[in-house]
Amino acid sequence: MGRQRVRTARGRSAQSTRWLERQLNDPYVRKARAEGYRSRAAYKLIELDERFNLLRGAHRVLDLGIAPGGWSQVVRKRLPKARVVGIDLLPTDPIDGVEIMQLDFMADTAPALLSEALGGPADLVLSDMAANTVGHPQTDHLRTMALVEAAAAFCAEILAPGGAFVAKVFAGGTDHALLAQLKRDFTTVKHAKPPASRKDSSEWYVIAQGFKGRPGPDTADA
Ligand SMILES: C[S@@+](CC[C@H](N)C(=O)[O-])C[C@H]1O[C@@H](n2cnc3c(N)ncnc32)[C@H](O)[C@@H]1O
Repeated sequence: MGRQRVRTARGRSAQSTRWLERQLNDPYVRKARAEGYRSRAAYKLIELDERFNLLRGAHRVLDLGIAPGGWSQVVRKRLPKARVVGIDLLPTDPIDGVEIMQLDFMADTAPALLSEALGGPADLVLSDMAANTVGHPQTDHLRTMALVEAAAAFCAEILAPGGAFVAKVFAGGTDHALLAQLKRDFTTVKHAKPPASRKDSSEWYVIAQGFKGRPGPDTADA
């Protein structure tokens, strides 16, 4: 199929015309539509899973920033028996077998509600959360990093030993303190940009595998 062009309509900005044109010509958008995924983002998880075997053997999975639901659709397809719980600020249409909460992950009540819904330790925590961008790269980076830090802190409470954590980060990568924490808590920590992640986006993913478990009481500071 040839490249589709979108005529600039009155009332549509040049920016939204460009966005529409890019959507229409994006092979992942077409593939998602053909394969029944709600977002092209689904392929980022598929590609990360192919490379890192994230989903293998997982029984409980958390999807932070679930909307519109592509990642959870992939999880359900690959792990039909897993318990999957997702959270998002935005409404998400129901997905069979997935419990969805419309709530700010940063709200004080979120961690307890997520743990309760999961009903046991998680094998995999996924975070595709990104703060709404304000167009100032440093501010956008800091706001998204705050979400990643909160997700990593929650992992230390909710993950089962051997569990994994995947989170969207932005170029400039995972900041020093967070990386040190992940390296302490997990056996391996890597960064990856799956092919489905747009080349012109500064998005990357951090993949931390082999959670070492919570430190026992005897290792706590006296
Ligand atoms: C890139 S989208 C996720 C796409 C999803 N992985 C998929 O495959 O369909 C990022 C989502 O993170 C959500 N988000 C951002 N900040 C959040 C927060 N504090 N609490 C919950 N969700 C948040 C946004 O509302 C948005 O829907």
